[in-house]
Amino acid sequence: MNNTVRPWIEIDWGSFDPWRVQGPLHHHVMDHPLLQWDALMELVKRLEPLGQFRSHTSEAAAGTSFNDAPRLFRNRKSATDIITNLSDAHAWMSLLNVQTDAVYRTLVDEILDSVRPGIEAADPGMSYRAGWIFLASPNTVTPFHFDTEHSFILQLQGHKTLYVWDPQDLEAASEHARDLFHAYHDRSLLVWREELRERAHKFRLEPGVGAYMPCTSPHMVENDDNPSLTMSFTFYTDSTRRNAGLHRVHAQLRKLGITPAPIGRHSALDVAAYGLYQGRHAISRGLKRLGGKPIEREDAPYAYANLI
Ligand SMILES: [Fe+2]
Repeated sequence: MNNTVRPWIEIDWGSFDPWRVQGPLHHHVMDHPLLQWDALMELVKRLEPLGQFRSHTSEAAAGTSFNDAPRLFRNRKSATDIITNLSDAHAWMSLLNVQTDAVYRTLVDEILDSVRPGIEAADPGMSYRAGWIFLASPNTVTPFHFDTEHSFILQLQGHKTLYVWDPQDLEAASEHARDLFHAYHDRSLLVWREELRERAHKFRLEPGVGAYMPCTSPHMVENDDNPSLTMSFTFYTDSTRRNAGLHRVHAQLRKLGITPAPIGRHSALDVAAYGLYQGRHAISRGLKRLGGKPIEREDAPYAYANLI
């Protein structure tokens, strides 16, 4: 098949389910000119002065707190040093929100536009588009964690193993852990246990292979004995915004001593709770607007740069 017609990411849209982990997916995003090392070096030079990178040393383990890893295993190398000598940098680094860079926004748009019709058919309302580029030295682990967005994770260079748990797996991440995360970006109730490996979807990633991970699918990545380059394309939809809103309401109920039923068990209660959330949210936004405060909208076309 000719590259001019080959889709960037190959997906069976007929069976696509936005709330199911899917993979291995085949892609050729590593062929994109903006994902070659010289272009990435220029990107690092632009993002580093803005502080748009996150790093820790290779000492971090699967059970290390993802939120605290940069503090617990502080990397003292510059972002430029890491990309220049990734094989020996003994580091993990993420370039954050690359869609805020005018050049890399075109990459995020190109890839997400290519899958958007399929996504929208199953899960409308794509928003908050973002791109994240991960560089890892040999034998480096990405600690167990989850994220708020739906995500395509695509391997560009090197081999690694991706473990992903279903977003409905309450053994891997409880409802309470998800409530806390959506309400406060707090991952402290997401706790790694070795036995979780048996419950995971396990993907061997190599250049041209990736996976789709729904919102709050816990994941952990173990790099092989090679430098690795990976990119994730992330977004919200109507259903992720609703799911996040419900978890935030449930976090408030827990503060009142009420243990809410898991989302999806009582749909009428979910409808009422989300209506309440939307009403409160609209009032809060109106007050901020009156006070001249900035308003961050989850239905904005692109993610903002201040959250990691
Ligand atoms: Fe992640």
